[in-house]
Amino acid sequence: MSKKTILNIKECKNVKKLTMLTAYDAASARIVEKAGIDMILVGDSLGMTMQGKNDTNSVTVDDMIYHAKIVCNNAPNTFVVVDMPFMSYEIGVEQALENAGRIFRETGARAVKLEGGETVLPQIKALVNAGIPVMGHLGLTPQRSAMLGGFKAQAKTAAGAKKLLEEALMLEDAGCFSIVLEAVPHKIADVITQKLSIPTIGIGAGNGCDGQVLVFHDMLGFSDFTPRFAKRYAELGDLAVKAIQEYVKEVETSAFPETEKHTFTIADEEWEKFIKS
Ligand code: KIV
Repeated sequence: MSKKTILNIKECKNVKKLTMLTAYDAASARIVEKAGIDMILVGDSLGMTMQGKNDTNSVTVDDMIYHAKIVCNNAPNTFVVVDMPFMSYEIGVEQALENAGRIFRETGARAVKLEGGETVLPQIKALVNAGIPVMGHLGLTPQRSAMLGGFKAQAKTAAGAKKLLEEALMLEDAGCFSIVLEAVPHKIADVITQKLSIPTIGIGAGNGCDGQVLVFHDMLGFSDFTPRFAKRYAELGDLAVKAIQEYVKEVETSAFPETEKHTFTIADEEWEKFIKS
């Protein structure tokens, strides 16, 4: 499998559905690459999945770089996108260039993702002009959950839907190679997908999008809470608890470790020498 570029990603529009999953560490990166996913997102959702917080707002650029480096090293053949965390680009173009530049140079990722529409157009244009591919993110933008009154579906009114479409077109115009649409009505996501010439990646936006993204922990059953739009494809959290309970039982009853299978031996003559010494 060869590593995709933004051109390959764009060419998939109307040809092949794109697949994307988050990964944050060596294990998840290796698993996701092995499964043959098109793109990995080192999402700032790591604030919740890795750091156990209730939202993403405390994640820093250093946190993103730490996790993204590990992911890039362990999924060397997969196209990796890294989230720009809250307040790492909102202040202005210079701040966005500095932080995206660090992420791009220090991690080996080939694109960044940032949330927002009209207000971040100057930042998107500046990054693209500097040679850093940008994935947009519209609809439910978790970094603004405090302003949105929580993690709520967006564009549920005609006016909201019109604004979303306008902003998607602006993002395309500004040079985004793809846009994540999160928690928006599927009919609106369909219209946006049809109007854009770049791929839309949906999460809670229906199956008319050009691709889908899910959070690793949600789809594999590692999280206690799963958003309505995320399908749990496995219950690995439950499996892990069962495995650990079995380990505890076996240690307590001396069933583990088994001498033949899990321990090392010493040659008889060395043993004799040792005993006599
Ligand atoms: O941070 C993240 O994981 C994301 C996805 C939910 C799209 O932005």
